[in-house]
Amino acid sequence: MAVNDVALEINNISVCFDGFYALTDVRTRVMRNTVHFFIGPNGAGKTTLLDIICARTKPTAGTVIFHPKNREPVRLTGMKEYKIVNEGVGRKFQVPSVFVNLSVEENMILALKGHKGIFDSIFRKTTKEELECIHNTLKRVSLDGKSGERAGSLAHGEKQWLEIAMQLVSKPEIIMLDEPAAGMGKPETFKTGEILKEIKKDCTIIVIEHDMDFVKQAADIVTVLHEGKFLMEGNVNEVLADKTVQAVYLGRGGEHDA
Ligand SMILES: Nc1ncnc2c1ncn2[C@@H]1O[C@H](COP(=O)(O)OP(=O)(O)OP(=O)(O)O)[C@@H](O)[C@H]1O
Ligand SMILES: [Mg+2]
Repeated sequence: MAVNDVALEINNISVCFDGFYALTDVRTRVMRNTVHFFIGPNGAGKTTLLDIICARTKPTAGTVIFHPKNREPVRLTGMKEYKIVNEGVGRKFQVPSVFVNLSVEENMILALKGHKGIFDSIFRKTTKEELECIHNTLKRVSLDGKSGERAGSLAHGEKQWLEIAMQLVSKPEIIMLDEPAAGMGKPETFKTGEILKEIKKDCTIIVIEHDMDFVKQAADIVTVLHEGKFLMEGNVNEVLADKTVQAVYLGRGGEHDA
């Protein structure tokens, strides 16, 4: 793949919490329009890596460089968290954070206008174009039939998809999802995989996940972390066939312990 297809560079990231290295010298590239998984045993440093990409945590060493499609590269390390979101790098956290008493559509309106402030969200009328964008985005996560429903009444999986849609509505170039299929049954997990394959057409997706069927279904590339270190990277088949990965993760039933 051409160098200009790189969306994110993770360069030699280390992070030390009170003498404990949660990550040591981790480096990889995330290619544009791919679904890039990070897997590894509990405590491997996966969530910490997402925290570093979105600047919630400062690394002890290393840099993260974002390569927007039509602009100069942007160094994310050292930036403010909200500025990174404005640059087009969004993140969905594991705990759902939808407003349960608002409708699906109202949650989407808040997500779309949120960065302009609450006053604007409440008092400025939503334009026809904005509503169209909201409904097109809901369609991509199969929630277009539910726009009038109270978000609190959605099934667990639907809430997760709504949150993904809330990320997508501002048209980010990269979205990060920490265990999006956690707590989902097989059919919902499968549908989540299909949603990721649909949205990567115009977005780059970084995902942490333990469910190996889900990884097999949706991954273009998989990076394996172990005890804060880069262990290996490859396509799903290469990773599954790797003896070290089997020993430290798969062999121990790592996919079931989250
Ligand atoms: N703020 C912090 N202060 C101290 N230690 C931390 C902090 N954040 C994470 N850690 C430690 O860093 C290690 C990596 O944690 P992290 O949450 O990144 O793992 P993970 O790969 O996401 O695991 P899981 O699969 O269980 O979610 C763990 O040992 C954790 O206890
Ligand atoms: Mg985690």
